[in-house]
Amino acid sequence: MDAIYENSAYIRSRADASRRSSQSKGQAKAAPCKRTKVLLIVLCVSVVLVFGGLCLLGVLYSNFLHEMSQDMNNTNYEMELEALKTQNKETLRKLNRLNESTGCAVCAVNWIHFGGKCYYFSTVKMNWTRSRDHCVTLGGHLVIINNNAEQDFLTSNVKITHWIGLNDIDIEGRWVWVNNQPLNDSIEFWIKRENGVREPDNWTKDHPAGEDCASLGHPAGETDFWTDAFCFKEKRFVCEAPASV
Ligand SMILES: *[C@@H]1O[C@H](CO)[C@@H](O)[C@H](O)[C@H]1NC(C)=O
Ligand SMILES: *[C@@H]1O[C@H](CO)[C@@H](O)[C@H](O)[C@H]1NC(C)=O
Ligand SMILES: *[C@@H]1O[C@H](CO)[C@@H](O)[C@H](O)[C@H]1NC(C)=O
Ligand SMILES: *[C@@H]1O[C@H](CO)[C@@H](O)[C@H](O)[C@H]1NC(C)=O
Ligand SMILES: *[C@@H]1O[C@H](CO)[C@@H](O)[C@H](O)[C@H]1NC(C)=O
Repeated sequence: MDAIYENSAYIRSRADASRRSSQSKGQAKAAPCKRTKVLLIVLCVSVVLVFGGLCLLGVLYSNFLHEMSQDMNNTNYEMELEALKTQNKETLRKLNRLNESTGCAVCAVNWIHFGGKCYYFSTVKMNWTRSRDHCVTLGGHLVIINNNAEQDFLTSNVKITHWIGLNDIDIEGRWVWVNNQPLNDSIEFWIKRENGVREPDNWTKDHPAGEDCASLGHPAGETDFWTDAFCFKEKRFVCEAPASV
């Protein structure tokens, strides 16, 4: 029995040992489970972080897209602004041209606008050739009269005789304008008095060379007609220039 007891004790001790060993085995099993949990947690955290990152990226990306589209809209607005600016400039230009065709804003200071041209009435007196040259230095030429309206405009603006851009210096009796156009005989304003006095008269009393330059009016004062006069005489003069566009 002792042996049995012994045995049983042995068995018990064996059982204890096996229990202990099984317990220690259970402990060994529990340790990997904990690690798994930790791993799982780490994984979860990682997943959460990754999702968070993805969300953040998504938000950033959508912000980026939003900004991009806003930028594109900004460039659209810039383009529209540019287009409007150009349009505005064009409108102003048109308005200015309209102003210029109706008003006197186009002519230089001291020049008078009439019928799309500018006129300068001199305050100094010069002989005809110097008058002609002076008009050129002012950017114009001695006036060329093309119609009744222009003649009326000029005579209404002068009270004494003025040189105009007409002469027969080269060939006596062949009157030409300073632009080399011959005088059109249907558009001339030579004086024709009822007593038979007519201009040009090539008067040679003062000078044998005769009168080769045309003036508006004569020294006596009437200014609504043309006379021929001695080119060396000093008179005021009228210059003409195109109105600037
Ligand atoms: C950009 O402009 C378009 C129309 O041109 C509009 O429909 C859109 O909402 C605008 N986007 C932003 C972000 O302003
Ligand atoms: C047109 O002329 C008027 C007067 O001559 C002036 O007040 C106005 O500013 C001018 N407009 C432009 C666009 O030049
Ligand atoms: C002269 O003027 C008239 C009337 O304006 C015109 O019919 C004619 O063609 C002109 N003659 C010349 C040579 O320019
Ligand atoms: C004008 O007078 C000059 C000088 O006397 C003379 O040579 C010329 O023939 C005259 N011309 C006319 C058209 O009478
Ligand atoms: C006009 O005056 C200038 C300078 O005083 C002179 O050189 C020129 O010969 C004159 N011309 C005439 C046609 O008298």
